[in-house]
Amino acid sequence: AKIGLVGVPFSKGQQRDGTEKGPGALRNGGLLETLTSIGHDVHDYGDLPLDFSDDKEGQIGVAKNPKTVGHASKMIADKVSEVVKSGRTCLALGGDHSMAIGTIYGQHQVQPDQVVLWIDAHADINTPLTSGSGNMHGMPLSFLVKELDPYLPKIPGFEFVKPCLTAKDIAYIGLRDVDPGERGKRPIHLSFDVDSLDPSLAPSTGTPVLGGLSLREGLYIAEEVANTGRLSVIDVAEVNPSLGSEQDVETTVKNTIEFITKCFGKRRQGVYPPGYHIP
Ligand code: ARG
Ligand code: MN
Ligand code: MN
Ligand code: MN
Repeated sequence: AKIGLVGVPFSKGQQRDGTEKGPGALRNGGLLETLTSIGHDVHDYGDLPLDFSDDKEGQIGVAKNPKTVGHASKMIADKVSEVVKSGRTCLALGGDHSMAIGTIYGQHQVQPDQVVLWIDAHADINTPLTSGSGNMHGMPLSFLVKELDPYLPKIPGFEFVKPCLTAKDIAYIGLRDVDPGERGKRPIHLSFDVDSLDPSLAPSTGTPVLGGLSLREGLYIAEEVANTGRLSVIDVAEVNPSLGSEQDVETTVKNTIEFITKCFGKRRQGVYPPGYHIP
């Protein structure tokens, strides 16, 4: 496939430093070389020049750093729509999961019939009013879902975002068998939070939760997504190379790259020759 890689070095959707180093860690882990080695044409758009200043207004119970997150979301959205418009599958390397406001909204400008697969330990659909933490990485879907519009307070920085999904456009995993025929031909936005995996597989992340997906489960999902042939945008969120030991970072990066390459057609039984149709 033609892939457009976009680095989203961002961490202001939560309170720990480090997720801004996610794109670098995945690049250093050999992601581009691996994708190229299985036959993909990867164009690297580089890292977005995102701003990191904390806003003053933030407090518990309302969104923290809304202006910074809003500004980043706009830049992310513009870049993702440019990449999707160019006909490439957009691989957005985060960054915390607030990135998905921009990636989903940006895809929507080009592919309004998008569906979203949300692979995560968390639902990330808190509104600024229901959130206990105020961290915007727990809120991205609330900005995008039409049904929640009446409950969403006006947040400075997000004036440009209009809700673009209905609740039934989103599937949380969970989901264990993606049957292409059942879902029609709509382009898929895969939003992958590494904390969906068990913490033993992705320890370097800010909000790990015990009892996550096994590698077998995670890779199976990635292979099924690849089989649909309709992957249009992937977010890779919440890799934090500042957390855990060196070994933890290495494990997290290795398994994350494994997941990404499976999404792009590398199969556990080996890669098929170009043009081979999977029966
Ligand atoms: N539900 C919690 C919150 O709203 C945790 C969200 C964690 N989100 C994530 N993308 N890791 O703060
Ligand atoms: Mn839509
Ligand atoms: Mn999560
Ligand atoms: Mn998440």
